[in-house]
Amino acid sequence: MDGQDEQDGIELEGGFEPKPALAPCPFFFGYCFPFFNLSTLSLHVNSTQCSTRPNRSGLVAGGLIPLVLLKFGNFQLATPLMLAPIAGYCDLAFRIICRQLTAPDGKGIGLACTDLLSPQGLLRGSATSLDLAATNDLDKPVGMQLYGADPAMMAEGALWAVEHGANVVDINMGCPVDKVTKKDGGSRLLCIPDIATEIVRACVRVLEPHGVPLTCKMRLGWFNDHPVAEWLAPRLVDAGACAITIHGRTTEQKFQGEVNHDGIARVVQAVGRTHHGPGPGIPVIGNGDIRAAADVLAMMERTGCAGVMIGRGALSAPWIFRDAWHLISTGESLPEPTDEIKIEIIRSYVDLMARYRTEQYAMVQIRRRITWFGKRINGGACKRLKRAVSEAADRAEVHSVLDRYLAGEFRGGRDWDGPTAAPRAADSADSPIYAETPALS
Ligand SMILES: Cc1cc2nc3c(=O)[nH]c(=O)nc-3n(C[C@H](O)[C@H](O)[C@H](O)COP(=O)(O)O)c2cc1C
Repeated sequence: MDGQDEQDGIELEGGFEPKPALAPCPFFFGYCFPFFNLSTLSLHVNSTQCSTRPNRSGLVAGGLIPLVLLKFGNFQLATPLMLAPIAGYCDLAFRIICRQLTAPDGKGIGLACTDLLSPQGLLRGSATSLDLAATNDLDKPVGMQLYGADPAMMAEGALWAVEHGANVVDINMGCPVDKVTKKDGGSRLLCIPDIATEIVRACVRVLEPHGVPLTCKMRLGWFNDHPVAEWLAPRLVDAGACAITIHGRTTEQKFQGEVNHDGIARVVQAVGRTHHGPGPGIPVIGNGDIRAAADVLAMMERTGCAGVMIGRGALSAPWIFRDAWHLISTGESLPEPTDEIKIEIIRSYVDLMARYRTEQYAMVQIRRRITWFGKRINGGACKRLKRAVSEAADRAEVHSVLDRYLAGEFRGGRDWDGPTAAPRAADSADSPIYAETPALS
């Protein structure tokens, strides 16, 4: 797809384009940093046609998906694809890695979000909160997500977020973890709708003068047999929310079972009914269990959602936004990056973590994250590589292991699925909310 006239129904103007600071990279899809050591690699950019090729009107075959880019208030996203907050994982370095992996047209992620942030922590300048909220020019557009239950405090947090670079502020109404829900935050807000709507009103009041949109991310409900999102989401919109992200599970489910597409579709319809004027209305973003680009298409087709948020799928395939955007905008599938490229992605990620945080942070993270990256290296059969990275003493040794892997060492192995050493205090300290990350089966 190469021009506006090929894409009636797709708004291309005014989107958030890649920063000029990023250099076009001939060997990679789209753009990369000078310090990405990818220049010696070549990537086959021939895409293969997929069965759901868009027709000239910009609709996927069958007319199922009108591909209109997302707008949160007046803020337009370049694509309808978002990186989910995953506490302890979607740090600044990872967000930048995901952003770099773009389709041939230079697009991929439309919006990435910080992990959940405590307004109290931000306001008193706690080092952990400030690290979690860290962003920079390469991390745009960025959402900052707040959790809590005190409307005034949340509003102060929202103002802090705007003053520190947030393009969007999101309220967490989906976290199922006791530490958060016991204080009425996260998905507990689904049970106390008056407070949920008051938080939205209070935040919108402070955000509106800055033109920054407020969004909410929620679950279908607390109890499996009591879906409240389809009732609550329209009320949050009435209170001023510019978009709703809905994870298709309940709090009772946590991360078990299959994501409920019908439940997401009901929220889409309920929010749609609140909108009567002209224009595209309030977007609902579907979330849950996206493992591949085709799942994005399926989520949009089955639920009618306007955009898709991807979490765990991106932890092992940070190029998933590139794939999904290319698929939904052209109907074509991109080939999977080679293992060499995947190794360079890991290398760049470790270096960025050390650059933006500390050497120790980079090592703690790569030791636990290599199992996620490893799921997509050599078809998941890379036990020796994962073990060697996990046991590396420092970043130089991680680089050396990656070099040796590329040279043919540490090949194969399927059984190993995590670090052998017991986690140290520092491992969990950086993810104070979620103790572990449930696998996507
Ligand atoms: C370990 C972990 C941490 C998470 N942290 C957050 C968070 O900080 N804020 C949030 O809104 N959702 C959080 N989530 C939920 C994800 O954003 C997402 O809704 C969920 O993982 C389902 O999407 P997925 O199947 O694409 O991963 C977290 C999920 C996991 C597994």
